[in-house]
Amino acid sequence: MNKRYLDITDVGIEFDTNGKKFRALQKVNLQLDKGEFVSLIGHSGCGKSTVLNIVAGLYQATEGGVCLEGKEVSDPGPDRAVVFQNHSLMPWLSVYDNVALAVDQVFRKTMSKAERREWIEHNLRLVNMDHAVDKLPGEISGGMKQRVGIARCLAMQPKVLLMDEPFGALDALTRAQLQDSLMTIQAELGNTVIMITHDVDEAVLLSDRIVMMTNGPAATIGEVLPVELDRPRDRLALAEDQAFVHLRQQVLEFLYAKQAVRKPAEPAAVSPPQPPRLAAVQRSGDSDSPGDSNDFEAA
Ligand SMILES: Nc1ncnc2c1ncn2[C@@H]1O[C@H](COP(=O)(O)OP(=O)(O)O)[C@@H](O)[C@H]1O
Ligand SMILES: [Mg+2]
Repeated sequence: MNKRYLDITDVGIEFDTNGKKFRALQKVNLQLDKGEFVSLIGHSGCGKSTVLNIVAGLYQATEGGVCLEGKEVSDPGPDRAVVFQNHSLMPWLSVYDNVALAVDQVFRKTMSKAERREWIEHNLRLVNMDHAVDKLPGEISGGMKQRVGIARCLAMQPKVLLMDEPFGALDALTRAQLQDSLMTIQAELGNTVIMITHDVDEAVLLSDRIVMMTNGPAATIGEVLPVELDRPRDRLALAEDQAFVHLRQQVLEFLYAKQAVRKPAEPAAVSPPQPPRLAAVQRSGDSDSPGDSNDFEAA
């Protein structure tokens, strides 16, 4: 295995806001294998999206840098596709055309029109959206939009898939379905993934490693937790699995004990850790609104 497929070395960043310097990250070091699924978890505002944006080439690191297959990353590129929390589909284009936009951009010179059509349809089938190719984004649910966003990224055949809280705005039931879809797709395609999540169960269920970030400013990687659970993973079986429960506990300890920050004279802003909620399919949930989650803030 190439231990340094994606290599984030000594990355730091300082933002300049209204003449004031703000150090968001310092000495972030992380290496990913090809095909590895890594989650980034940490309190709100610690710098997770900033790490992802640097890997995406959207932000320039002040120190250090990122190499993908030995090549330094300096700009955005189709080898690093980003899935955002709020599906960034073009509202005036159909589901099919939203995926076609990316496919044409990447494969116009290497695939015939017929091949591209087949490829777009194939990727929409992967996310179970082939039944809605002619629909506009405004005509489908949040979960469906997120599926299309994932299809669009997969269709670009990126070397790395970057996901910034991709399921954060979905209800528990939809989120569970998309997590399962993502696991199936990743098992089939062997994507290399960095996913930011606020959801401890999601991190343990999906990841090969969980990267836990310290609180900002000057945030860095606090601990890295390997998740050595067999695949394929079954959420219902894992809910009672001792190894799963222990991993989950370790993440919660990091977040709520080691990295707990509270302002004086303010009550805890988070509810106490809940029991595993992997079996979300058994719960009701029919909205696309956030809320029913383990979201947390550094308070
Ligand atoms: N473009 C920017 N300019 C100035 N400050 C920024 C910028 N992007 C992020 N920050 C700051 O960097 C810190 C980390 O932000 P972010 O990476 O979005 O956190 P997270 O994704 O973990 O919630 C925050 O304090 C945020 O205000
Ligand atoms: Mg963020």
